[in-house]
Amino acid sequence: MGQKAITKNSLFYGDNLEIIRKYIGDETIDLCYIDPPFNSKRNYNQIYNNIGKEDTAQAQAFTDTWTWDTESIEGFEAIVHNQHGLYTKQSIELIIGLSKVLDRGSLLAYLVSMTQRIAEIWRVLKPTGSFYLHCDPTASHYLKLVLDGIFCTRGGQFQNEIVWCYSIGGKSKKRFGRKHDVVLFYTKEGHDNHIFNALGAAIPRKVGSHMKVGQDETGRNYQEKTDRKSGKTYRYYLDEGKIAEDYWIDIETLNREDKERLGYPTQKPEALLERIIKTSSNENDTILDCYCGCGTTIAVAQRLNRRWIGMDITYQSISVILKRLTETFGEEFLQTIELTGQPKDMAGARALAHKKDDRLRKEFEKWAILTYSNNLAIINEKKGADKGIDGTAFIQVTPTDYKQIIFSVKSGQNVSVTMVRDLRGVIEREDAAMGILITLEEPTAPMLKEAREAGSFQSELNPQKFPKLQIVTIREILDGERLNVPMTHNVLKKAKAQSSNKQLGLLE
Ligand SMILES: C[S@@+](CC[C@H](N)C(=O)[O-])C[C@H]1O[C@@H](n2cnc3c(N)ncnc32)[C@H](O)[C@@H]1O
Repeated sequence: MGQKAITKNSLFYGDNLEIIRKYIGDETIDLCYIDPPFNSKRNYNQIYNNIGKEDTAQAQAFTDTWTWDTESIEGFEAIVHNQHGLYTKQSIELIIGLSKVLDRGSLLAYLVSMTQRIAEIWRVLKPTGSFYLHCDPTASHYLKLVLDGIFCTRGGQFQNEIVWCYSIGGKSKKRFGRKHDVVLFYTKEGHDNHIFNALGAAIPRKVGSHMKVGQDETGRNYQEKTDRKSGKTYRYYLDEGKIAEDYWIDIETLNREDKERLGYPTQKPEALLERIIKTSSNENDTILDCYCGCGTTIAVAQRLNRRWIGMDITYQSISVILKRLTETFGEEFLQTIELTGQPKDMAGARALAHKKDDRLRKEFEKWAILTYSNNLAIINEKKGADKGIDGTAFIQVTPTDYKQIIFSVKSGQNVSVTMVRDLRGVIEREDAAMGILITLEEPTAPMLKEAREAGSFQSELNPQKFPKLQIVTIREILDGERLNVPMTHNVLKKAKAQSSNKQLGLLE
């Protein structure tokens, strides 16, 4: 397919289907785990019956992601006409059959999208490779059909339906608590050729009261069981633990206070990925997660000395991952990874700004703000009237108080002084410390004048003055210009450290 071998740990920003096709070579991946978005909290009947009139915000989130649109129509055609030579007869017949049963709506859009991506994942897996698809009971039965069509028709094998149980979160009084996800585990080949470190992620072996525990000459405790049929006796050492069953009840979902939490709503616990990665890969193997969210798979892969490739379609994810990697492995670590897909020049920035893809709504704004603010800003997700605010960062202005830095992004071709006046208005209205207008096009002289007239900002913690309203161009951001304002005050940190030292002194 002409892809070059990927030699560095790589993070890709963009649609995984395009990226896998363009960059990932055949049979290069040892383990792939994916956790695609689905929004299962939506009313199941609505999903199944394609009822368009959604009644909750959550339902909306599902249709936002999965609508029967040009993308789905093209995807459907691509599968039916086997455009990429990857689909088996069963996969094609399955998608045609599903289109009759489900009609052309959001659920079929989801299954078309998954079929296209899983077919590529099958292509890139090594013969010894494994695939784990994380989903839930809302769609797992359909996905199993899709997976069977792609894997089992070509010698692959269904290995497990792992039921991951947890207890956190609300419960209805009208049914049993829906407290599990489903992880479908397939291997590219049958005949047990795949990597499977049976005790790589062993769980403790419990000893029943009726079982006898013996001790060998080295002092290790063991338990013996005799196979009734063969009469053979097997010895199990307790310190080796045992292989987990296909229901996992010992890993909880992350609660709000969990120190692992990064504020990413669908973040999965590291323990879950650790079990999968340790079992289905060895050190230096290559792990792929093409829906990587806040980067749980890649953070765990890195910690366990695996190579990794991550992909996500939103820049917010990329930004959280970069922060996560920096905080866990240090600033220099980022120099060792390859970041692909973010605009590198004006043509790339323009292409992102003018992409006509609903899934990429506001992506240009997000990329611009997060890149310029060194991933410090928070994106304003509100749709419709955003009151002129695309993002916000908080700057410390007194020992106890913070003010906003407001970001507003203009991707249009006609920039005018009104935009600067509007932002001045927003800064006043919000009593913000500063405002930053990011523009794709060069600002006009009246715009620069209006910005200067906004005056300057100075906090009581820092003698340095900063322009109250700043215009930054995309060209400057591409050239490496970044927000260079101390957000938290070091003077304060020192003061705190000193006061705690004093306290220690007093206690002594
Ligand atoms: C459920 S989250 C994954 C969470 C992840 N397992 C974690 O622990 O953080 C799904 C992610 O898939 C991304 N995504 C959705 N469609 C995509 C696509 N076509 N290509 C790449 N990423 C996509 C979303 O932006 C989202 O971050």
